[in-house]
Amino acid sequence: MKYLLGYDIGSSSIKVSLLDVTTGKAVATAISPRQEMEISVPRAGWAEQSPERWWQECVNATAELKAAYGFDADLVAGIGITYQMHGLVLIDKDGKVLRPAIIWCDSRAVDLGNQAFAELGEEYCLENFLNSPGNFTASKLKWVRENEPGVYAQIHKIQLPGDYIAFKMSGRLLTTVSGLSEGVFWNFKQQAIAQELLDYYGISTDLLPEVVETFSVQGHLSAEAAQELGLTAGTPISYRAGDQPNNAFSLNVLNPGEIAATAGTSGVVYGITAAPASDPASRVNAFVHVNHTEAAPRNGVLMCMNGTGILNSWLRKMVGEMPYDEMNRRAATAPVGAEGLVFLPFGNGAERILENQPTDAELRGLNFNIHSQAHLLRAAQEGIVFALIYGMNIMRQMGVQVRTVRAGNANMFLSPVFREAFVNAGDVTLELYNTDAAQGAARGAGIGAGVYASPAEAFGGLERILTVEPTAGLREQYQTAYARWQDALSQLIPQSTTLAHV
Ligand code: XUL
Repeated sequence: MKYLLGYDIGSSSIKVSLLDVTTGKAVATAISPRQEMEISVPRAGWAEQSPERWWQECVNATAELKAAYGFDADLVAGIGITYQMHGLVLIDKDGKVLRPAIIWCDSRAVDLGNQAFAELGEEYCLENFLNSPGNFTASKLKWVRENEPGVYAQIHKIQLPGDYIAFKMSGRLLTTVSGLSEGVFWNFKQQAIAQELLDYYGISTDLLPEVVETFSVQGHLSAEAAQELGLTAGTPISYRAGDQPNNAFSLNVLNPGEIAATAGTSGVVYGITAAPASDPASRVNAFVHVNHTEAAPRNGVLMCMNGTGILNSWLRKMVGEMPYDEMNRRAATAPVGAEGLVFLPFGNGAERILENQPTDAELRGLNFNIHSQAHLLRAAQEGIVFALIYGMNIMRQMGVQVRTVRAGNANMFLSPVFREAFVNAGDVTLELYNTDAAQGAARGAGIGAGVYASPAEAFGGLERILTVEPTAGLREQYQTAYARWQDALSQLIPQSTTLAHV
């Protein structure tokens, strides 16, 4: 009997899953905290969280897992970690965290990234980094250098959120090539660190941690961490990946033509390319995928929408903490298109699909004599879907084929309205699987520790539980609603019309 543990370091909670190696199925899962974790906003457009809190919630979630399912920790053959991407954690020479993490949806570095894009040359950036330095980790680090020189001077190494959790477990300050790419620290053309960007930003390469393979033994649980977690010292940490590459991996999306999606706090559609691909306006991004090798390159091309589940969780607070299933049930009672009520869901930091233009969420077409709570709940779900489809269509313009989309049976995909809008407005088939990010991380750890010889073996327990197809009548209704949503978007962001009605 052997187990694998997967940790998902999300923005709203930490989830841990225990996978039984033989059956390939999750036997227990725990989430902490129960109430969504806060994102602190010291100034408009900023977003910070405490890395120590993430760790504390890993400890709490593991304790809950052990209480719910009494397993023998000596039988855990590997630990995998997946994490919210693009964050910046600063560590000093004593291993202490220097300031709160500047997380993925923090927009403070947008101007610095835009300036770098213009001054280094857009063509140069896209050819070498496949992205604008935008609002990613390297630009956030430049912000610290400019604005908090006292803090900057004390940095020993930077960490992405998952690197930090692995550091707490093993005492080793490491990252991966995929991790470097998500921070725009990676030059795809040279297959090397993006030295030109570091030089331009005046950042020393010494601040970057040593690189390890995504699937490999990257350290062992220290005695101290083992005691805190109630696990066994020496357990290998054998996988780490950003939440989006990991979501794709967890759905066995590894090759061109395969597409994954997720709709948690943020929403993402993620495809694979073998050749370098970029959007001229960097509205969608390319990062190194988990199975990339120099011999067989694999990049993940993703559109990310910050305002996904976070809009639904905000609405839930506005409607008296109604359970999500009840919100979904009520949304389904309003007609397709919510009788003209349009939600533009852009209230969680600069949106890359809108070229990082500053925006807020907007509700349009509201009529007090027509619209009820059900219309509002539906308009929110449709608005999120339409924004995802808008980004997905940019990917299509780049040549990524989007026909069948796989997702875990979780988050917003649990809502029938959301699924129906997604397949009909996007003209795709949706397949839902019995998996989630934490299980994906556990499977990754199995490959990294050599427990599974191949992805095929690791995915033995993966099952498709639902397929949703577009249907003739609904397809037209949703496309009409999508066209109305695009009109509203073009009033909010006029240059979005460059993509008119794809
Ligand atoms: C992906 C992205 C978000 C975060 C959220 O590029 O920014 O999905 O990873 O956790």
